[in-house]
Amino acid sequence: MARAIHISDVHAGRQDERIVEELLLDIAQLEPDVVLAGGDFTQRSRTSQWKTAAAWLSRIGAPVLAVPGNHDIPLFDIGRRAIDPFGRYREHIAADLEPEIEVAGIRSIGLRTADPKRRAEGRISEDSLERFAARAQDVGGAQWTVLLSHHPVAAHRDVLPGKPAEGWQDALSIAASARADILLSGHTHRRRSGPFTKSVDGRSMVVAHSGTACSTRQRGDEPQSWQVIDFEGDQIDIVGRAWDSTQSCFIDQDQSRFNRSSSGWQQVSAGA
Ligand SMILES: [Fe+2]
Repeated sequence: MARAIHISDVHAGRQDERIVEELLLDIAQLEPDVVLAGGDFTQRSRTSQWKTAAAWLSRIGAPVLAVPGNHDIPLFDIGRRAIDPFGRYREHIAADLEPEIEVAGIRSIGLRTADPKRRAEGRISEDSLERFAARAQDVGGAQWTVLLSHHPVAAHRDVLPGKPAEGWQDALSIAASARADILLSGHTHRRRSGPFTKSVDGRSMVVAHSGTACSTRQRGDEPQSWQVIDFEGDQIDIVGRAWDSTQSCFIDQDQSRFNRSSSGWQQVSAGA
């Protein structure tokens, strides 16, 4: 069995400290093989916020694969936004904006959707698509392939705002041809509709969004959330973890099971 944990939208500067501590405790106890961190590490790309986010990541014992979010680009510092939009991200989180890692049979590929020319919406550049396509062909010895992005590339009708990143059609086609297994994203701060499958070019993939892991930037009445993804052979189990304010801890919110067939992944169960 291999385990990945997906967190997103931690928004340092807008964190709930108690929730951060519980999140880091849960991650340590769950002993993941890899942690996938889907962007919006900071609220406003300020140096103090970067230091806070980097300190959190340093407390995760597992390898971390990260991609930037739209909040990781300076918004009001126009000069920095124009000249070096990802400079602080590179300094504090990772030099590579689209990293790749293989751990315990899980190959994770980061795809950048945050775009300095957009305020909040996502866009996947031609360069990113080409890089993803080139990488996707080389499956190597991995048993499962995960695509991590900040903005969704496959939005769910219940996930609002559900507009996927521009270029999503091409990204999905590449993912399908590469036999990607699961697509992870955040940005919407919603996960309540739970994981689902998306069929592209005859290939069915698992799609799972996380909400904000530990910030006070909730949408509606959705609690902070993230997810645990267990891989075993031709089976993927996803458990959504959500903050319970009455107990002051994360609890299981939803559980979904997917089985692999010749045409990809089929959802076999979902429930609370
Ligand atoms: Fe966010």
